[in-house]
Amino acid sequence: MSTRHLLTINDLDAATLLALLADARAAKADPAALHGALTGRTVLMHFTKASTRTRVSVETAVVRLGGHPIFTRGDELQLGRGEPIADTANVVSRWCDAIFIRTFAHADVEELARHATIPVVNALTDDHHPLQALADLMTIEEHLGELQGKTIAWVGDGNNVFHSLAQAAALAGMHVRIATPAGYEADPEIMRATAAIALDHGGSITELRDPTEAVAGADVVVTDVFVSMGEEAQTAAKLEAFRGYQVDAALMAQAAPTAIFMHCLPAHRGEEVSGEVIDGPQSVVWDEAENRLHTTVAVLRYLLG
Ligand code: CP
Ligand code: NVA
Repeated sequence: MSTRHLLTINDLDAATLLALLADARAAKADPAALHGALTGRTVLMHFTKASTRTRVSVETAVVRLGGHPIFTRGDELQLGRGEPIADTANVVSRWCDAIFIRTFAHADVEELARHATIPVVNALTDDHHPLQALADLMTIEEHLGELQGKTIAWVGDGNNVFHSLAQAAALAGMHVRIATPAGYEADPEIMRATAAIALDHGGSITELRDPTEAVAGADVVVTDVFVSMGEEAQTAAKLEAFRGYQVDAALMAQAAPTAIFMHCLPAHRGEEVSGEVIDGPQSVVWDEAENRLHTTVAVLRYLLG
């Protein structure tokens, strides 16, 4: 059997996605049942970007399963001094049981996976954040029940977190509406492929400009920072472009009365979301963050058996 990786949500089919969510629910309900699943196994986590949720939840998940996480940052590996990705993949594969990597170029993670003989998990690249999407779907299911047919409204940047959420929602047969300013749309190739997957599963993808149109009657309203890691030089231009795209109480009021608000965090209150919304009664962001742990446990069990 070839090595399983999780580089994007497209590495999963619909049945596997739903099975992962079910396993995450079971892990949340009975954490003690998991002990020992990774006994004697080592997981390398190499991050070249900051992280709170991903780093701490993955390390905790590995420890809960009885494994040993090794965390390295930036130039702590020779990779940061120019050792080829392929050589790194080859040597780490001789010792470890999985690699979680967070970095900039998605192609670097693909290169790592091409040469690794152990599972590689994307812990965020400039283009994708599959672990976040799994926690997001788990959280929606917890709060609203069956995913199929529900509508997600994304307001803001067509970025890494959005790509993965759209791919996961498409597999689950959900309807996704995204409102972005001109120039900050999601990747057109990813959107074309994702729209086809959504259609196959009874869902849809709709790209819009107007946040109100995206949010109207939606079950879930989601946003993310306007300026992602690595985009700091674009801060002034992006903050200007995203004026009018804040999820505030007036915008939330356009969604379904039972709608939930989600954000992968970290958040900037007063930029992409008002404090009133993220700290208000419709916000489920703490459950969403907690579920990063349970979904990562499910991913580890799926990849490492
Ligand atoms: N949501 C998320 O991935 O958070 P971190 O950047 O803190 O890991
Ligand atoms: N889009 C954000 C997500 C952080 C979890 C970033 O890439 O910085």
